[in-house]
Amino acid sequence: CGIVGYVGGRRATPILLEGLHRLEYRGYDSAGIAVPHRNRLKVTKAAVRVGELRELVGEGLPATSGIAHTRWATHGEPTDANAHPQQDASKRIAVVHNGILENADELRARLTADGVSFASDTDTEAIAHLVAKALDDGAESLEAAVRTALHDVDGAYGIVVIDATKPGELVVARNGSPIVLGVGDGEMFVASDVAALVRYTQSVVYLDDGELATLTADDYRTSTLQARSTAKSPTTVDVDDTDFQLDGYDNFMHKEMHEQPEAIRRALLGRLDERFSTARLGGINLDARALRAVRSVKFLGCGSAYYAGQIGANLVEELARLPADAEPASEFRYRNPVIDGDTLYVAVSQSGETADTLAAVRELQRKGGQVIGVVNVVGSAIARECGHGVLLHSGPEVSVASTKAVTSMSFSFALLALLLGRVRDLSVANGTRLVNGLAALPELLAEILATEDQIAKVADRFHEARGMFFIGRVRCWPAAREGAQKLKEISYVHAEAYQASELKHGPLALIDETMPSVVLVPDDELLAKNVGTIEQIKARGGPVIAVTNADLPAGLVDAEIRVPHATPELDPILLTIPLQLFAYHLALRLGRDIDKPRNLAKSVTVE
Ligand code: G6P
Repeated sequence: CGIVGYVGGRRATPILLEGLHRLEYRGYDSAGIAVPHRNRLKVTKAAVRVGELRELVGEGLPATSGIAHTRWATHGEPTDANAHPQQDASKRIAVVHNGILENADELRARLTADGVSFASDTDTEAIAHLVAKALDDGAESLEAAVRTALHDVDGAYGIVVIDATKPGELVVARNGSPIVLGVGDGEMFVASDVAALVRYTQSVVYLDDGELATLTADDYRTSTLQARSTAKSPTTVDVDDTDFQLDGYDNFMHKEMHEQPEAIRRALLGRLDERFSTARLGGINLDARALRAVRSVKFLGCGSAYYAGQIGANLVEELARLPADAEPASEFRYRNPVIDGDTLYVAVSQSGETADTLAAVRELQRKGGQVIGVVNVVGSAIARECGHGVLLHSGPEVSVASTKAVTSMSFSFALLALLLGRVRDLSVANGTRLVNGLAALPELLAEILATEDQIAKVADRFHEARGMFFIGRVRCWPAAREGAQKLKEISYVHAEAYQASELKHGPLALIDETMPSVVLVPDDELLAKNVGTIEQIKARGGPVIAVTNADLPAGLVDAEIRVPHATPELDPILLTIPLQLFAYHLALRLGRDIDKPRNLAKSVTVE
């Protein structure tokens, strides 16, 4: 979900709507806005996209403050009534909220017993009622009322509250869901993501969990929920509004795929050490001794970040000969894992805000695990709480389907694996080979992107498939999983990834002429095995699309997507790129909403 708030000297409505437009990638089930006018709040909200909300609001009122929201439904279906802002019964208070309240049912029962009637199914509405009640009970300020209300609330929230009778003030609070203040000249902004602010200011203050702030046009005051002041100075963000513009592309996914060579170049800057044939990752804060003390590595992330972690685990095992694996952070946090003091845990997240990954980090820290963060968004919760790690430098990623960030993640893991390898068994010669291979990657990525038209033709040929297999072996198995994920996410065509070796143990039963398989065939020591797999599929009448840098026997496959040769260990990074383009063009052919696939959100800050 996305939150925006403004208080200052300008008309608030256009600023709030523009902010929502920038945040729509965070959730797009419904949208709404509240602005104060003559001691009342004018609330416009509906189960519509931001574009339609803009039409509903029109010119809007001349208010110079207000709050707005774009929603990804958790409590209650996406309906007009459940859209935010939510209000109390007297309509004096309006609240926008990201997160989930754990005691929502209890609060609802209690308030209902007190005679409050609810207008929505949301957990958020309870906050509005609680704030109004605290004011009725004599709270001396809106801030005091919000503080009182939050004492009764359990769960995750980022909220902004406005009071119709005090239009020059916003109260915001954070517990588990990001809130960032934007400091302007005679105006203040608040949002759940800097994307909504950078058009107006680069000067920001990140709230911490358990922190609350009151904003007026000229000032902001931060404190803990217990009313202890936490004087905070603004920092400067290094992104600006151009990073959130389409730049002539039809959608962000297309733009971001094409930014990959540049993103990798940035991730590479200063991180290759040619003299010692190794990598430099100062941010992880581990010297050679500490690196040598690491006995195993575990990657934790969700969605595509988890698949990238699997690629990372393979690279660590291969280059550093250390046991390594990856696990969804969402599973790890709930299964009471054994935390091993000699394991290096790597929390992986583009946004740095994914609730499950953040919870895994906290669980690790509670139990003394050593955890570093591999994160794209500077200043995000995971980046701050890990303290040490690797910043991806991919630039803002807007498309829900992750492309450049995932590529930079795998790339960073290759750097980490090289570094861990070179303080162990990896030879100078192999170190040099990897350093050169990594340095060559941006150019190879660009070569693949240049073949987009051919990949689009292949996608076009197979766009009517009822489902697809994505087949990979060993190194390329996680790349196949990421390819299947991309297709599912944006085209809604069912896709299942399978290890090539496991195909014969079940899934072959599904193969016929209507079920194509995308097979990853790197030119490595397992080439003959992969050719064997393709023959098994062909023998059952299944069409095969090979993604390959090998010379395959003539007539073996139905379609070939060619990729250049890379250092074999780095093939999974390279072979992921054509799978992105394939999913993209297939989804485009099916007329899908590429940047905003149904039911999904870019950053899942709830469990
Ligand atoms: C959501 C997105 C995925 C993403 C995952 C993890 O589910 O839709 O594309 O891979 O979150 O996000 P993170 O920001 O932690 O990398």
